[in-house]
Amino acid sequence: MSAYQKEYQWAQNEPESFWKAQAENIDWFEAPKTILKTDENGIERWFPDGVLNTSWLALDYHCEQGRGDKKALIYDSPVTETKRTYTYYEMRDQVAKIAGMLAAQGVTKGDRVVIYMPMIPEAAMAMFACARLGAIHSVVFGGFAPNELAVRIEDAEPKVIMTASCGVEVNKVIPYKPMVDKAIMDSRWKPESVFVLQRPECEAELGQERDIDWQQAYDNALPHACVPVLATDPLYILYTSGTTGKPKGVVRDNGGHAVAMKYSMHTIYNMPQDGVFWAASDVGWVVGHSYIVYAPLIHGCTTILYEGKPVRTPDPGAFWRVCEEYSVDVLFSAPTAFRAIKKEDPEGEFLKKYDLSKLKTIFMAGERLDPPTLEWVQSKANKPVIDHWWQTETGWAISGNPVGVELMPVKAGSSTKPIPGYQVEILNELGESVGPNQQGFVALKRPLPPSCLPTVWRNHDRFESGYLSQFPGYYVSGDGGYLDEDGYLFIMGRIDDVINVAGHRLSTGEMEEIVGGHPAIAECAVVGIHDDLKGQLPLGFVVLKDGVKVDALELEGELVGKVRQEIGAVACFKHALVVERLPKTRSGKILRRTIRQIADGEQYTVPSTIDDPSSLDEIQKVLNS
Ligand code: COA
Ligand code: AMP
Repeated sequence: MSAYQKEYQWAQNEPESFWKAQAENIDWFEAPKTILKTDENGIERWFPDGVLNTSWLALDYHCEQGRGDKKALIYDSPVTETKRTYTYYEMRDQVAKIAGMLAAQGVTKGDRVVIYMPMIPEAAMAMFACARLGAIHSVVFGGFAPNELAVRIEDAEPKVIMTASCGVEVNKVIPYKPMVDKAIMDSRWKPESVFVLQRPECEAELGQERDIDWQQAYDNALPHACVPVLATDPLYILYTSGTTGKPKGVVRDNGGHAVAMKYSMHTIYNMPQDGVFWAASDVGWVVGHSYIVYAPLIHGCTTILYEGKPVRTPDPGAFWRVCEEYSVDVLFSAPTAFRAIKKEDPEGEFLKKYDLSKLKTIFMAGERLDPPTLEWVQSKANKPVIDHWWQTETGWAISGNPVGVELMPVKAGSSTKPIPGYQVEILNELGESVGPNQQGFVALKRPLPPSCLPTVWRNHDRFESGYLSQFPGYYVSGDGGYLDEDGYLFIMGRIDDVINVAGHRLSTGEMEEIVGGHPAIAECAVVGIHDDLKGQLPLGFVVLKDGVKVDALELEGELVGKVRQEIGAVACFKHALVVERLPKTRSGKILRRTIRQIADGEQYTVPSTIDDPSSLDEIQKVLNS
């Protein structure tokens, strides 16, 4: 039996013994006596009587173990030309003071804190400061517009918001404070205080009574100790796109998360404790939560927080420069980042300028790793390139190639095999397991391993209806795919209204709500079409209300502006085409899949349930024109 099979079977056959052993690798205040228990909602929960603090595990514990002088976090910001390093001692002490700053505003265990910050060290410190108090953070990606922030504020009901005066993108500065003010104005829930960290690129006006200057508060703050919490107490809420306009608040608990993070660092990434881990993502996404902030520090590594892009900061050698400069062991990013590099440096000339001898493995996630990108990175970097599949809901990889246990042969297009702890099955419409190479719903048999969401924030019904009720005993991932004859998993894409744009998860349903809200529009469909760089891009098809006369280009401009204003630039909604009618089934369901196939130039079969087949020609005609 291979090392992978041995590990996998242990987790599958004796999950409690397996996870008990993994739990012994973290420093609990009170080790759990119960490993798995069903809660009042009927959901399996890990380590329910364990007591710990995540900030302790990631910072104080290492200081106690004599690793305080070691580098914990390296901040590298080509957009502001800044580089800074923090030791574990420095991180612990600054986090303790930021926790004190929050406590002075009355933040205690269980309170929510929204963090809307760019990629600066204080964003990670703010997260740890919340964890230190047992408060629940909810980080909102800086690329989201005020409306998205408002929706999250309303749902999470934070006591405090933490922000910075601005974000810095390539060649542009984005003021954050006016967006925070607008979001609070639009939200029914009003936080009591807003901490604003002033950045020199654009200082904010602190005109509201609730505004507090971060630096001043920090200077006056007293360090706060770690508050013990139960393993099942929430560490954070992270909102993610669902099929409707309202994002889902994925809840992550403290204990299961810490155990899974620790386990993943050696099993999946094969990271030595003295290594350097770089997740080139953003703290606003789950990858950033897990692998910029929590896992590398829980494991005792050095993490890199990079405020820049793979290209244009200043050139497509940026990733390789960082890898050489900090002796990165593992690089983790989204395929789209490498496609951007490949586009600007197809021969890998920039890569050749750097010494990558320390770099062991490159990991990718966020979207399917397309075979041409896999082959390009493999051949240019000459390192193992590992695709692994995961979701905000799980917080860590569901399938991958666990290098720390056994590096299995890579198959292009596959995210290899289920990670120990996950039981992946492919189900048909009836909920029956299908055979090898047959596509179906990718589902996870319960219990889900530690770190996976136990509920949707204050909406348990949505958790049940969105994930659990379709196939009793299973969690439905929302992805379609198949397992091949060797047990390799191939994820073929979402089977709902979620798309992935440059590794960012977005809801076409939400875009339809916004587009459909325009006074000239009777109905619309937004589909995700293939894009060579970003994987997918949204494309809108709109039907005008009877009698409405508008200039199509002008209307497109208005719709593009509306989506940009309400979701944010990150949605990359750039086109909306006017059609006479949308292809529908006889019962009135819009045939989005067929529309997408036509737009992508794929072969398609005309659905037997179609109401009017000529509506498909209409789509083709508009695309051609
Ligand atoms: N704050 C404010 N605005 C932001 C932002 C942020 N944090 N992140 C992105 N935006 C804006 C950009 O400025 C851009 O605005 P524009 O339309 O006015 O130019 C828009 O959102 C789209 O940004 P992006 O998707 O980043 O596109 P890009 O063309 O600037 O860069 C890539 C393309 C591929 C280089 C970039 O998407 C990338 O690096 N992707 C990596 C993906 C990733 O990290 N995914 C996380 C999951 S692992
Ligand atoms: P997010 O919750 O933002 O991490 O997005 C999760 C979704 O991204 C998944 O449901 C998939 O659709 C897609 N995804 C993430 N990683 C991969 C991967 N390695 N291969 C294919 N799809 C992926």
